[in-house]
Amino acid sequence: MYKTWWKEAVVYQVYPRSFMDSNGDGIGDLNGILMKLDYLQELGVNVLWLSPVYQSPNDDNGYDISDYQSIMTEFGTMTDFELLLKAVHERGMKIIMDLVVNHSSDEHSWFMESRSSKDNPKRDFYIWKPGKNGAEPNNWESIFKGSAWGYDEGTDEFYLHLFSKKQPDLNWENPKLREEIYSMMTWWLDKGVDGFRMDVINFLSKDQSYSDGTVHHEKKYGDGSPFFLNGPRIHEFLQEINHRVLSGYDVITVGEMPGVTPEEAQLFTGKDRNELHMVFQFEHMDLGGGPAGKWSNDKWKLSDLKRILSKWQTGLEGNGWNSLYWNNHDQPRIVSRFGNDGKYRIESAKMLAACLHMLQGTPYIYQGEELGMTNVAFESMDEYRDIETLNSYDELVNSHGWSKERMMSAVHARSRDNARTPMQWNDSRNAGFTKGIPWIKVNPNFPEINAERAYNDQNSIFHFYKRLIQLRKQHEIIVYGRFELLLPDDERIFAYTRTLDDEKLLVLCNFKEEHASFSLPEELHSYSSTRLIGNYEQEGEGISIKPLSPYECRVYHLK
Ligand code: NOJ
Repeated sequence: MYKTWWKEAVVYQVYPRSFMDSNGDGIGDLNGILMKLDYLQELGVNVLWLSPVYQSPNDDNGYDISDYQSIMTEFGTMTDFELLLKAVHERGMKIIMDLVVNHSSDEHSWFMESRSSKDNPKRDFYIWKPGKNGAEPNNWESIFKGSAWGYDEGTDEFYLHLFSKKQPDLNWENPKLREEIYSMMTWWLDKGVDGFRMDVINFLSKDQSYSDGTVHHEKKYGDGSPFFLNGPRIHEFLQEINHRVLSGYDVITVGEMPGVTPEEAQLFTGKDRNELHMVFQFEHMDLGGGPAGKWSNDKWKLSDLKRILSKWQTGLEGNGWNSLYWNNHDQPRIVSRFGNDGKYRIESAKMLAACLHMLQGTPYIYQGEELGMTNVAFESMDEYRDIETLNSYDELVNSHGWSKERMMSAVHARSRDNARTPMQWNDSRNAGFTKGIPWIKVNPNFPEINAERAYNDQNSIFHFYKRLIQLRKQHEIIVYGRFELLLPDDERIFAYTRTLDDEKLLVLCNFKEEHASFSLPEELHSYSSTRLIGNYEQEGEGISIKPLSPYECRVYHLK
């Protein structure tokens, strides 16, 4: 197994808009992040991933970039960024940037030039097609609903936008566009940033046939994904990025890849492939999806979660590397989703943390996860800000006849805004996030759930995360040990071992609010064991075979 720093690191994702507002305009900013570096250092994370901080009209909160080389006005200035980077480096931490190059904003000068005429030199920076029989070039649906094609009256053609109308897709077939992106990436790396999280990076290569996609049940539009997920030139493009830009720097790269399988991920992350270090896969996040996608919010089974995560663990063993995450700015809060955000909030948040952090891979913590922050349930749609949530509400309620109640309950469970309510720092007004009016409301549970309180309580979720991070630094087996699933069919307990030479870890996690008994393979009893961490009082020496309490986790080190 090849050993390196980015396998041993723990990454913390900052969503700058919701992290800390230093100037009272209600929007988080770079100086706000600077103010909180002591907190992040105390937690022990090594790398900060910043969601986009570039100039943007914020149709999709910065994932629509209008200038890749300047800082969003609301977030501060380039000088603020440089100071932040310096301060992070002084603390021995690193920063990775969000690289959003599948699309730009329609307000990027490239797009404004591109749409200005058919023979503009930037025309081919984007994907333009003539209409078909007076309609869109094909039937693809946008991920944010409606057609994936925007009409431009001036030139009487359509441009592709897999996300919102204001996020036109860049044309990676064009070598000039690719050169621009490589020089922009190099500019950031020369400034000293330590790597990139690459937004929907497996969408870059489109099948040039632009054929219609299948129209699934009750849908108006077709599914274009077979024509743009892991398209024909994706490996070539990633190898080119690597060769032209990344190979000259010792940085960390992670590609966001909806629809990726472990077999493909081996190609994307295999050491000799010279593409990326790791990918964000979505199979575990897609649990509970149904005919209305995530809004179906169907029941999910623990055995499925275990099957998926084990498949990724064994699939990349020795041949690639996993990222580990429960949360990010697009997902509901994990304690509300796979845990219990009521009576067992603290127990279940800790159990989920241990369950994830003891797997093989590089863990990612999303802001507030270390506090056990929960989903929010705003009463009215007026309180929601996320474009995907708003467009989906409109489609499902207004065109598909869903009742408002049904949709609101799906929004409460699955909206991206669950992750985007302001970070809860203390119990003062607006949870200490801003002195102004926050751009999105604070979760009303902040008097109970906040960083100050967690920091002062040695038994808090925060201190549990801190301990998990410390353990990873002390025990190589947590980083490099081989994974093996135990009890695959048990619907209550997620149990596994890790093995490195003659050591083992045994991880037992109860995902239910009932007691859960279990029996372990004989061979485990022959080891001598110490408990590394758990979320209930330890009882006695050695492996306890007492049934697990509600949401209990126990992690043992066996020698
Ligand atoms: C994935 C990002 O994580 C999400 O927030 C964004 O809306 C889309 N890509 C489009 O950039």
